[in-house]
Amino acid sequence: MGLWRLVWILFMVPVFVHGRISVHFKTGRPLYVALGKTLVLEAIFQKNPEDNIDMVTWDRQREKENVRISGTIHDKRISLEKDNALLRIINISRGDFGTYKVTVTDSNGDQQHNSIEVRMMEQPLKASIANLLECFVDTNDVAQWDTPQFEWLVDGVGVTSQTALLENGRRLNISLVKGENYTCITHSSLGTVTTHFETSKETPTSPCSWPCYKGLIAACVVLALLFVICVIIMKMRRQPKYVPTGVEPANTV
Ligand SMILES: *[C@@H]1O[C@H](CO)[C@@H](O)[C@H](O)[C@H]1NC(C)=O
Ligand SMILES: *[C@@H]1O[C@H](CO)[C@@H](O)[C@H](O)[C@H]1NC(C)=O
Ligand SMILES: *[C@@H]1O[C@H](CO)[C@@H](O)[C@H](O)[C@H]1NC(C)=O
Repeated sequence: MGLWRLVWILFMVPVFVHGRISVHFKTGRPLYVALGKTLVLEAIFQKNPEDNIDMVTWDRQREKENVRISGTIHDKRISLEKDNALLRIINISRGDFGTYKVTVTDSNGDQQHNSIEVRMMEQPLKASIANLLECFVDTNDVAQWDTPQFEWLVDGVGVTSQTALLENGRRLNISLVKGENYTCITHSSLGTVTTHFETSKETPTSPCSWPCYKGLIAACVVLALLFVICVIIMKMRRQPKYVPTGVEPANTV
């Protein structure tokens, strides 16, 4: 009898498993969200074409307290999309943290569920602006058998510091190797390429740029012209005086 029961279980169990709808979440677990931000939980249902989903429900469980979220949503912050597969809660507050359980019921009345814990993101995020140069090789997506090797020069001197080189040399931490002229040489079966990147040189900043010089030159030309015109006018005014004075003595004599 025991043997027959075992055989029955071995043959029948896969049939039941086959007909089940499996549920999992799109995101990893546990999930962290900061207060005031939006939480989106999307359940993925894996089912056979002949299986039909009758109902999808969402519950939030916390310290033995279970709250049914779907069905009667009074909270305007909560919405369900994609045939109830996606739960969205905007402006997350402390009361929203806990374990979210999604339950799917198929047309045979079989239920499957999965849970995901949502925790509050408490540590403030740290951000920094990376002082990195990345050597990017555009290969037009052609296939190559090897991976490129990167070589960096700073003002013509090869970089040997392994701490400054990141991602197999693809990136260079320029906080550690300061210079003005950065050169990246890449070698691969597709060829060797050399590129340069220059940081803005600390040249003594002149107070005037080219448009400004053009203005200055124009102003100088205008001034010079005015000067010449003035000189001409003055000469023309004085001429009648000089001529008589030059002639008069001759007349009087
Ligand atoms: C978010 O919720 C808090 C209370 O939890 C409220 O004070 C705040 O005004 C809400 N913000 C928005 C944008 O609705
Ligand atoms: C930068 O350095 C490379 C290698 O030393 C050199 O070939 C290149 O001419 C330099 N570029 C400039 C603008 O100085
Ligand atoms: C680059 O070097 C600076 C200075 O040592 C360091 O603080 C920083 O973490 C490094 N950045 C990376 C991405 O390694």
